[in-house]
Amino acid sequence: MCGIVGIVGREGVAGHLVEALRRLEYRGYDSAGVATLEHGRLERRRAEGKLVNLEAKLAQAPLAGAIGIGHTRWATHGRPNETNAHPHATKRLAVVHNGIIENFRELKAELEAAGVRFESQTDTEVVAQLVSHLMDGGLGPVEAVAAALPRLHGAFALGFLFAGGEDLLIGARHGAPLAIGFGEGATYLGSDALALAPFTSELTYLEEGDWAILSRAGAEIRDADGRAVERPRQTIATQAYRIDKGNHRHFMGKEIHEQPEVVGRTLSHYVDLAEGRVVLPEALPFDFGKLNRLYITACGTAYYAGLVARYWFEQIARLPVEIDVASEARYREAPLERDGLTLVISQSGETADTLASLRYAKSQGQHTLCVVNVPTSTIARESSVVMPTLAGPEIGVASTKAFACQLTVLLCLAIAAGRARGTLTAERERALIDALITVPGLMAEALKQEGEIEGLAREVARARDVLYLGRGTSYPMALEGALKLKEISYIHAEGYAAGELKHGPIALIDESVPVIVIAPHDGVFEKTVSNMQEVAARGGRIILIGDAKGAAEHGLDTLATLTMPDLDATVAPLVYALPIQLIAYHTAVFMGKDVDQPRNLAKSVTVE
Ligand code: F6R
Repeated sequence: MCGIVGIVGREGVAGHLVEALRRLEYRGYDSAGVATLEHGRLERRRAEGKLVNLEAKLAQAPLAGAIGIGHTRWATHGRPNETNAHPHATKRLAVVHNGIIENFRELKAELEAAGVRFESQTDTEVVAQLVSHLMDGGLGPVEAVAAALPRLHGAFALGFLFAGGEDLLIGARHGAPLAIGFGEGATYLGSDALALAPFTSELTYLEEGDWAILSRAGAEIRDADGRAVERPRQTIATQAYRIDKGNHRHFMGKEIHEQPEVVGRTLSHYVDLAEGRVVLPEALPFDFGKLNRLYITACGTAYYAGLVARYWFEQIARLPVEIDVASEARYREAPLERDGLTLVISQSGETADTLASLRYAKSQGQHTLCVVNVPTSTIARESSVVMPTLAGPEIGVASTKAFACQLTVLLCLAIAAGRARGTLTAERERALIDALITVPGLMAEALKQEGEIEGLAREVARARDVLYLGRGTSYPMALEGALKLKEISYIHAEGYAAGELKHGPIALIDESVPVIVIAPHDGVFEKTVSNMQEVAARGGRIILIGDAKGAAEHGLDTLATLTMPDLDATVAPLVYALPIQLIAYHTAVFMGKDVDQPRNLAKSVTVE
C-alpha cells in the first residue's frame, strides 16, 4: 500500500513529485524517495520517515530534471530505513513499487547465482535487478520490462525510469491500482487520481495486467499479452480533489466534524425525501425478495459497519446474514449459492483481502454489490452493483466519516430489502426514513459534547486498558470504539458484547480500567444496565454513552455520562459513532500522538 508517482515532461520535476507524494502519504509514510534524470544520468534522494524528511534532503541537495518517479512507503519486506526506501536503482534504471513480489526470494537467488549483488532487503530491488540484468543481456528498456513482468508473481504496481531515457517512463499494473494522467506536454503516472490532481483531471485507469509506455506526448497501453489496447479516458471532477484541513488541527478532527454534511449528502442520494422512500441510485440485477441469505465481507472498520448492518438486514428485512472478515472469507472456501448476493464494504475500494473475497464470490456465481467511497476503485469496477458513500476523500488513516456514510448506505439497503421482501410496511419505512433524515441534525447535536469528551479524554489517556461494551447494534460499535482508540492512541482496548462480559473479560475489571458502555435506550437497555451493575460492583469506572431517559433510569454511579439526543434506536449507531470517535481522537491528541498517521498503519491496505 505504498504510493507511487511518475512524471515525464515537466521541468522542476522533483518538486512536482513531492507535491504528488504529499497526496499519497496516506498510503504509507515509513520512508519516501524520488529519482530524476539530470542530463540523462539517474539521481535519487531517499529518506527514512515522513515526507518532510525527504523535502529537507531535497532542499539541501536539490535534484534537477524534467522526468522522474517518486514513492512513499509502507514497509512490507525490510525495515523502513533509507537503504530499503524506494526508488531502487541500478546503473541502468530506477523503480518504484506498491505491493508484494511474492517470488522475490526465488528470483533473487537466481540473479545472485548470475553474479548480481543486492543492496537492500526489499522485494522491489529484485525488479530493478531483473530488468537491469535483461538489459545487460541486450534488451532495450521496453523489451526488458516486457520480459520481466511475466516473471513477477504477486499483486503490485510498478513505475520505471531509465538512465538516458529522457522521454520514457513505464508503468505496470498487476493487482494494485495505477492511473495515467494526460497534461500539456507532460504525462503522469500515479497510484490514484488524488496524486495527479494538481496536474491534470484527464485520466485513464490501467486494467488488470496492463502496462504502459509513457512519453511527453501521451501513453501507449499494452495488455498482459503485449497487445496495444485502448482504455477509456475520464475527466475527474476537481472538487473530488479538495484536501485541506480547513480550521482543524488534524484531518481526523475535520472528518469527524464533516459527518453531518456528508451523511446528509449520502442520504439525499438514496432517499426521495418528498416521498419518504428509499430510492437506490442504481437498478439491482437481483431481487432482494428472492435471496435466501446475504453474505457480507470487509475489513476493519468497514467490517464493523457490516456487523451493524447484519442486525438491520435481519431485523428489517428478515434476511439471514453471514458475515466474515475478508482475510478469512477469501480462504474459507465458503459454499456460496449461485445467484446469491455478496456485499462488500470498503472505503478505499482497494483493500486486497476484500477484493479477493469479491473475486471469490464472483467465481461462485454470486451477484456482487459494493459499498465504496472511491467510485473509480478496483472493487467498484469489479462489482456488479456499486453503491457509493459520498464521504469525499478521507485522509485521516482512522476511518470516521466513511464509516458513518457506510452505515447510512447499508441502512438504506436494508430498508430497500425489507420493502422487496414484504417485511416492512410503508408506515415503518416512512418512520425509518423520518429517523434517518434527522441523523445529520442529531450528529450536530452529538458534536456539542466535544468539550466534555476532551476533559474525559485525559482520564482515558491514563489507562493501560479500556473496555467497550454494548448489546445489539451497540456491540459492533463497541468493537469499533476499541479499534479506534487502540489504533491512534496505542492504548490497549477491547470491545465485548455486554452479555459476554461475565464469561471471562470481567476478570479484567478493577478501578484502573475505564469501561465505556454504549447504551441507547433501546430494547436491550435494561439488560445492559445489569451488565453495568456487574462492572460497578467490581469497582470498574463506567463512562456511559447513552441518552437522558437511560441516564435517569440506571441509577448507577458513573465516571461520566455522555448524553446523546433522543432518537429512533435503529439509527443510534450513526449518531453514537461520533462520541466514540471523539474519545479516541482527543485521547490521542492529549497524548501527543500522530492521529492522522498512526504508527504501523496505512490508509489503503493493498497487500494481504
Ligand atoms: C480503521 C480503519 C481500517 C479500515 C480497513 C478497511 O480506522 O480505517 O480498519 O477500515 O483497513 O479499509 P477499506 O475500508 O479501505 O477497505
